[in-house]
Amino acid sequence: MSELQTVGAYDLRRATEAAARAASAWIGRGDKGQGDSAAITAMTAELERLGLDGRILIGEGPRDETSDLYHGQRFGDPRRPPQWDIAVDPVEGTSFLAKGMTNAMACIAMAPHGALFDPGPAFYMEKIAVPPAAKGCIDPEAPVEDKLRALARALAKPVDELTVYVLEKPRHRDLVASIHALGARVLLYPAGDVAGAVMAAIPGSGVDALLGTGGCPEGILSACAIAGMGGEFMARLDPQLATERRAIEEAGVDTARWWRLDELVRAPEVIFCATGITTGLLLEGVERSGGMDKTQTMMVGGGAGIRQMLSSWHRRGEG
Ligand code: FBP
Repeated sequence: MSELQTVGAYDLRRATEAAARAASAWIGRGDKGQGDSAAITAMTAELERLGLDGRILIGEGPRDETSDLYHGQRFGDPRRPPQWDIAVDPVEGTSFLAKGMTNAMACIAMAPHGALFDPGPAFYMEKIAVPPAAKGCIDPEAPVEDKLRALARALAKPVDELTVYVLEKPRHRDLVASIHALGARVLLYPAGDVAGAVMAAIPGSGVDALLGTGGCPEGILSACAIAGMGGEFMARLDPQLATERRAIEEAGVDTARWWRLDELVRAPEVIFCATGITTGLLLEGVERSGGMDKTQTMMVGGGAGIRQMLSSWHRRGEG
């Protein structure tokens, strides 16, 4: 591979800060689409300004469905192979944004070209995230009871002191019942499993595990964050829609197979940034006052050490 273009987390964080600030104008206005479009436009402009040599691997959808951040969109010189593959979610938690609820954030990750797992036509994956102390201790095929007992042993705490983040969805009814039957706690959120996965990988965060099925884009973003920070993340494609299942079968992808973190993110030079839009478990949201926007961003990899939290004050109307 030729020498990688130097882009650090401190550069890349401009993309999520810009997206979060643009989206924040739409907090609580009941319109997911407008907030998402504002964030997409702002993030795209920052990626262009950065002069990134990359392409969108995980974006907002196919080219005919979104004007920017579409799958395959190139930044930099289109005649050369891209140096970076980019995963974006300009608003993770569009419903949180529209309803003015906690936990909406802007996310981006990138890794050297070819290093990220491409979920192809899949939209949903089952995910497991746990802290570094439990790495290698969880059998993804085991029943949830065994997974949690193994996790408790690895974290040296009783099972009933574990806290598991799960998306509140009908598909998780049995999962939640099993966790409760063991006496463990469940944090049920209607959306936002990137925050859950990242929290699960941070020792002492108050979340010991993320379990359950959510979006593939969010899964790859979580994998990038955890690959950079340390911790365990595993995933298996888990189609929820008949059309998705058919497309995966046609593509010949095995839905029984669990993918390890080093198969989802196959290079150490991974960078992840997330900026809060509304205040949540992981990040403070955008504060707008006196002509200024204050943002809080988590940066992983790319010169930011294991992870760094950055508060920035921006004059409104400026980058
Ligand atoms: P939004 O569409 O509100 O942004 O929701 C994002 C999200 O909750 C992800 O965090 C999660 O991975 C995925 O949606 C789950 O999808 P679904 O709500 O269709 O089960």
